[in-house]
Amino acid sequence: MRSFMGRDIISLKNFERNEFFRVLEIAEELEPIARNRQNVDLLDNKTLVTAFYQPSTRTRLAHEAAMLRLGGSVTGFSDAKMTRAGDFYQESIKDTFKMLECYGDVIVMRHFQQGAPAEAAKWASIPIINGGDGWGEHPTQILTDLYTVLREKGAIDGLRWVAVGDMRMRTMHSLGYALTQFDCPITFIAPPEMDMPDSFKEDYEAMGLDFAFADHVGDVIGDADVILVEPTIQPDYTKSRDERKGDVPTTPANYKITRDLLVNKAKSDAILLHSLPRMDEIPADVDITRWSRYWQEGFNGVVMRMALLALVLGAME
Ligand code: CP
Repeated sequence: MRSFMGRDIISLKNFERNEFFRVLEIAEELEPIARNRQNVDLLDNKTLVTAFYQPSTRTRLAHEAAMLRLGGSVTGFSDAKMTRAGDFYQESIKDTFKMLECYGDVIVMRHFQQGAPAEAAKWASIPIINGGDGWGEHPTQILTDLYTVLREKGAIDGLRWVAVGDMRMRTMHSLGYALTQFDCPITFIAPPEMDMPDSFKEDYEAMGLDFAFADHVGDVIGDADVILVEPTIQPDYTKSRDERKGDVPTTPANYKITRDLLVNKAKSDAILLHSLPRMDEIPADVDITRWSRYWQEGFNGVVMRMALLALVLGAME
């Protein structure tokens, strides 16, 4: 297996099956630290730099919490407008990351341009972790989701997935790549104007993913072991910030997971994932059902980032 030490985590496209299992194994090993709310000294001489050019609650803070749990330090920015990249100078990725590599040992970045983390990785001599790039990928979120599935269902292979929402979403793209390495058929359901881009479909076909498309979640939810949802009402991920203007529409029934749908059509032991934030595609009354697992995903997000930081910084092999 390739070593994770010093490696960039940009995409799940080139992640091998045994590498997924190694990351999941390390997460399981480190999980008690987070569960017991301990801070240890595994990374006590290391610093994480956060470079967020787009808003985030979970991804940035979960990486920061993970670093602090492992005894490391954190510096960085959550608003690029307060840096030279966001003012008159519009400082380039190259110039910015040639600086950031001087301030720490690993960088997690989120950017509105697809490919920005790959560009940063060309210039920085320390590992870059992609915290979401435009309509590109969100690898650490999907690693978190795989870890959640493993913990909740005891295995990943053999499970049937249904993914509902905007297929331009970066999580959906990383999910497709990840499932090429497992025995997991998946059905995608999205509004026609939010269809999966052809480049990803072509990759999935070439990599042997067993995938299909459906129009209404009600038609396929009964087959699903894992139901993964993203909004269809959401901001433009190619912008650094997209303010809400006026009334927002509601989610059509085709892409909405209600209590009624779960009670009447879902398998009784299926699990429901949502990386959050949500609009109305999962109403709050679904939270108190046996299907919901999104709060567990939130906790697992810290554990998975602990595993990734420990691996890329060489504290665990
Ligand atoms: N799921 C996710 O990426 O959440 P944030 O946008 O809050 O980081």
